[in-house]
Amino acid sequence: MSQRRRIPHLIGSLLLVAAAGVGCGEATADSGAGAGTEPEVRPLGRIVPVPASVTPEGEPYALTRDTRIGVDTSSRASKAVGRYLAGLLRPATGFPLPVVDEEAADGGVRLRLDPDDGALGDEGYRLHSAPDGVTLTAREPAGLFRGVQTLRQQLPSAVEHDSVQPGPWNIAGGTITDTPRYAYRGAMLDVSRHFFTVDEVKRYIDQLALYKINTLHLHLSDDQGWRIAVDSWPRLTTHGGSTEVGGTPGGFYTKAQYKEIVRYAASRYQEVIPEIDMPGHTFAALSSYPELNCDGIAPPLYTGVKVGKSSLCVPKAVTYDFVDDVIREIAELTPGRYLHIGGDEAHSTSHADYVTFMDKVQPVVAKYGKTVVGWHQLTGATPAKDALVQYWGLDRTPAAEKERVAAAARNGTGLILSPADRAYLDMKYANDTTLGLTWAGYVEVRRSYDWDPATYLPGAPEGAVRGVEAPLWTETLSTTDDLDVMAFPRLPGLAELGWSPASTHDWDTYKVRLAEQAPRFDALGIDYYRSPQVPWPGE
Ligand code: ACM
Repeated sequence: MSQRRRIPHLIGSLLLVAAAGVGCGEATADSGAGAGTEPEVRPLGRIVPVPASVTPEGEPYALTRDTRIGVDTSSRASKAVGRYLAGLLRPATGFPLPVVDEEAADGGVRLRLDPDDGALGDEGYRLHSAPDGVTLTAREPAGLFRGVQTLRQQLPSAVEHDSVQPGPWNIAGGTITDTPRYAYRGAMLDVSRHFFTVDEVKRYIDQLALYKINTLHLHLSDDQGWRIAVDSWPRLTTHGGSTEVGGTPGGFYTKAQYKEIVRYAASRYQEVIPEIDMPGHTFAALSSYPELNCDGIAPPLYTGVKVGKSSLCVPKAVTYDFVDDVIREIAELTPGRYLHIGGDEAHSTSHADYVTFMDKVQPVVAKYGKTVVGWHQLTGATPAKDALVQYWGLDRTPAAEKERVAAAARNGTGLILSPADRAYLDMKYANDTTLGLTWAGYVEVRRSYDWDPATYLPGAPEGAVRGVEAPLWTETLSTTDDLDVMAFPRLPGLAELGWSPASTHDWDTYKVRLAEQAPRFDALGIDYYRSPQVPWPGE
């Protein structure tokens, strides 16, 4: 099912290609094109997402068998980040890399929390590299974790292998100071159309972590499957979770499994947003409980890919007992701030019913301590005061619909941008892409990267834009290879849109840095689309 032409891994022949004096933002389109290899010392800042500020200086730091990782041992979180870093680096380097107190890590890699460094914010970090040591400083543990991703990408791609590689393991000298452009940098995984196991979701979480994504939105219910246990309505999963698109067996997460996903995401500094899509996209629920249907008759399980045919019964009181129970139980399991209530493509719900439904349901989310997120159709009702809406329109979306969303934004509603013809990872890249859908058009790698979230939606104030999210819908995707080849290499570009300053945005330099990720994808076993727009190594 792969889109990718495999190439041999070229780690054996390291050359100093494009290394000479090329700092962040100075790369040209030519500097990496056709290069067969990666530089022995990756120029500081030649990573994805590109850092906000890069000052190359002096000689590199060399990681050796004697390197220690120093942490503030009084902070559990910084110890955990230190152990995570050691776990990343040990397999390929073969070095012991003990995690010790900062004092005992002279000449090593030190992770330092500085609560007074306000400029670094909640996720920012400073990385200083010199021959006598590497120091990562952050105000918060999340910043240390983001900085670890930078440190990891500064090392040769071979560091991602799970067996010992030759090295050397150099980190270019100088200082990176980096904070994110947007607080919200999300990815959505649709586990309803096809079910993905806890381990498969963890694999995706690890891929997201490498690109500094901080939000995992799980699309947990749809017509084709209900994927999260709700004790008070058990048939949602035993019946509603039993199939998926195409009629193959589905699956669902027990509460313990969902909590394990949440815990794992938190260990990668990602917040989970659960989505229960309502009032449309609900055949799995309607099929499980006849009383949720206006006519009292349960429809059969749905395994096709059409949308807009189902609706919860808005006038019935039992609908709100159901919604209250579901939201209460899922809110209890979810430490994050948000609960996504869907609201898209409710084509079988009248407008009046849609407005009534949203007026009744949004306060339930608030009652259980969460903030509403909805797809942008929620602006056709009255979004709750602090709600976020997720815009998934296209260039060709009617101006009136865009304006309705922009007006809500002017009125205080926060925006998450997921324009389908840019950010949807399930759209085909080109006409020869075997997986994916085309209703939003082809989305090649450049198209996915080359837009500006701040000015994207006409009339929406820049301050309303909370960030960017890359949804991965799975009507046509059923394996991790399928997920890989659609997410990669578009996901890193969307992550960069969310993280890097607008001033760094430049396709010609981005495509070179993206090409340099290829050996990293290979080492990690990530199947990716070798877009002809990108100057991949070896071509
Ligand atoms: C959507 O793509 N229906 C949100």
